Amino acid sequence: MSPFVRAQVSGRCTVVVGGQWGDEGKGKIVDVLTAEADVVARYQGGANAGHTVQVGDETFIFHLIPSGILHPGKRCLLGNGVVLDPVQFFKEYEAAEARGVSVEGRVGVSRRAHLLLPYHKLLDRAREGISARKIGTTGRGIGPAYEDKVARRGIRVVDLKDPERARSLLVEGLERTRAKLRELGVEDLGDAESCVEETLALAGRLLALATDVGSEIQQALLAGKKVLLEGAQGTALDIDHGTYPYVTSSNTTAGGAACGAGIGPTWIHEVLGVVKAYITRVGEGPLPTAFPPELDQKVRDLGSEYGATTGRPRRCGWYDGVLARYSSRVNGLTGLAVTKLDVLDTLPEVRIAVAYRTPEGETREFPADTTVLGQVEPVYETLPGWQEPTVGATRLEDLPAKARAYLDRLEEVSETPIRMISVGTRRDQIIRVG
Ligand code: GDP
Ligand code: IMO
Ligand code: MG
Repeated sequence: MSPFVRAQVSGRCTVVVGGQWGDEGKGKIVDVLTAEADVVARYQGGANAGHTVQVGDETFIFHLIPSGILHPGKRCLLGNGVVLDPVQFFKEYEAAEARGVSVEGRVGVSRRAHLLLPYHKLLDRAREGISARKIGTTGRGIGPAYEDKVARRGIRVVDLKDPERARSLLVEGLERTRAKLRELGVEDLGDAESCVEETLALAGRLLALATDVGSEIQQALLAGKKVLLEGAQGTALDIDHGTYPYVTSSNTTAGGAACGAGIGPTWIHEVLGVVKAYITRVGEGPLPTAFPPELDQKVRDLGSEYGATTGRPRRCGWYDGVLARYSSRVNGLTGLAVTKLDVLDTLPEVRIAVAYRTPEGETREFPADTTVLGQVEPVYETLPGWQEPTVGATRLEDLPAKARAYLDRLEEVSETPIRMISVGTRRDQIIRVG
């Protein structure tokens, strides 16, 4: 087969993207889909992600390593769009090995990926500490690392090949940060002082894993293999399409998958949007469909809605159909994976927001103006709760009729076909549709 004939490609490439404000259950869905895949690649974000995978009674949380790692033999890659924290990466690598997960030889990192260094984290935390307009970041250094990338002063994996040049770039970065921190009234760089030696000490190990991620993906697809591109965060946290400025600093949406993995968009076949059957948000910024306080606490308890990276309580609310339709459009979703249906099992009624009331009238469009989003009043449709357990369901027919009616309406409002339904944390708690 000529590699120039794109149409002859027999492999399949699927993007798994968060359809809401993150924590939709992407980790679980990627883990389930990896059983049938060969390669899994992260394409953006960094250790701000917290992807939970439960296998049997064991729970794993991945921040940088792709969630496919628990399937032996599958290749797991970190694309150029990721901001890679070497210390965190090797910590996670070793923790996985210590728990019996064979990582050796299975993980590759893009030579073009930018390094996220201790001084980025320090700056992130210092800014959040003093800023009057807090974003509520995870404190993992994401904003400052992407700032350096875009300002063309970042340090990439490939730069570690020349230790002297790497050293001078690291010292420059450290000194630049020292000056910025001084402006913020912070004099003590703490652990970040040792980042030059620490990073150089890891250089050899990192370079040994360096690869051309885009090329690996292309070769896999040409060989008829299946590739998953694992998104982090979610659509409403996208730097361009999200609720700016209360967003993360990367393109979380499907367009970012091609760019951040190093392939062209024409190599992608499917885009699966992961959404909770309700919604959550952690960090600052509006959440139009937020529950009243009592229900908020109840659902937080039922769904264990505490951040996988920071442990912060997540705000909870009703399914936002306006955001879902918007997500479907900006990601070009070909299907939905609806997670955590079981969390709603005991509620007497369930709601879906189908439009927003704004001072200018009713709209079905997700507003670009975040101040307006903070003022909208959702227009809800209310459906009866099913008040029966769904946790044992493995087929659509196993679900209570009222749960199916809720999913039917959710699908219509989201204008995207449901392909998967998750009814618990475990791998086997999954329903395939169609
Ligand atoms: P991610 O960042 O999108 O991978 O999601 P997180 O791992 O941060 O948060 C999702 C949480 O929900 C994790 O604790 C999962 O174990 C859990 N989870 C995923 N799917 C389901 C489900 O269908 N039901 C329940 N009850 N929990 C789920
Ligand atoms: P996963 O991949 C939920 C939020 C933070 C904050 C904003 C910016 O687990 O879904 P950052 O540290 O990225 O500069 O923070 O984005 N945020 C997330 N919220 N899930 C995540 O990742 C998130 N990663 C960042 O809370 O509001
Ligand atoms: Mg998460």
